[in-house]
Amino acid sequence: MWIRTASTEDLETISAMLTETWHDTYDQIYGREKVAELTGAWHSVAALKQRMNKPRSEFIVCDDGAEISGMAYVTQVDGETSMLHQLYVRPTTQGQGIGQKLLVEVEACFPDVRKIRLEVEEANERAVKFYGDNGFKKVGTTPDCGVKGSGIPAVIMEKVIW
Ligand SMILES: CC(C)(COP(=O)(O)OP(=O)(O)OC[C@H]1O[C@@H](n2cnc3c(N)ncnc32)[C@H](O)[C@@H]1OP(=O)(O)O)[C@@H](O)C(=O)NCCC(=O)NCCS
Repeated sequence: MWIRTASTEDLETISAMLTETWHDTYDQIYGREKVAELTGAWHSVAALKQRMNKPRSEFIVCDDGAEISGMAYVTQVDGETSMLHQLYVRPTTQGQGIGQKLLVEVEACFPDVRKIRLEVEEANERAVKFYGDNGFKKVGTTPDCGVKGSGIPAVIMEKVIW
């Protein structure tokens, strides 16, 4: 498997992978209906395409030649900070080191960036542990994870990379 930049041809597969992963991760926290609503809006091919075309952004996938098993999306927010907006690994391939591989690439995306920030729902204990194990520290909280007005409370975590 290798980590590479995503292309527009990947978007259908990524959209389906995100829908599957979101139901697996968040149904027990938010309920299936709410997850379907959120993932339908945030992970449509059109929404992903818009994100992919943003300046100072990197959209990467883990590809084993047969399927895409993970993705990450990161943007540079200022001279020294990047924001990791998404990191998702397909449920059937979690716990095999793919998240860590994607994270290594996220850290190398922007040479000037010294610090990576992210937001993660506190109830998503596995992800909070994963980020803690990989050098992220809690620095605050937000009532609106992801987008303004989402109403999803989350922890803000940061990692200083150099
Ligand atoms: C959180 C998430 C991104 C982590 O990715 P992952 O690929 O499952 O994580 P990794 O495999 O890299 O590391 C997790 C564990 O696997 C272990 N691991 C690493 N390489 C491994 C390998 N080759 N084989 C087996 N286990 C391995 C790691 O040591 C780590 O161990 P731990 O559970 O004791 O901490 C992923 O589980 C996920 O997508 N979860 C659902 C969505 C989500 O919550 N995303 C984050 C939203 S903010």
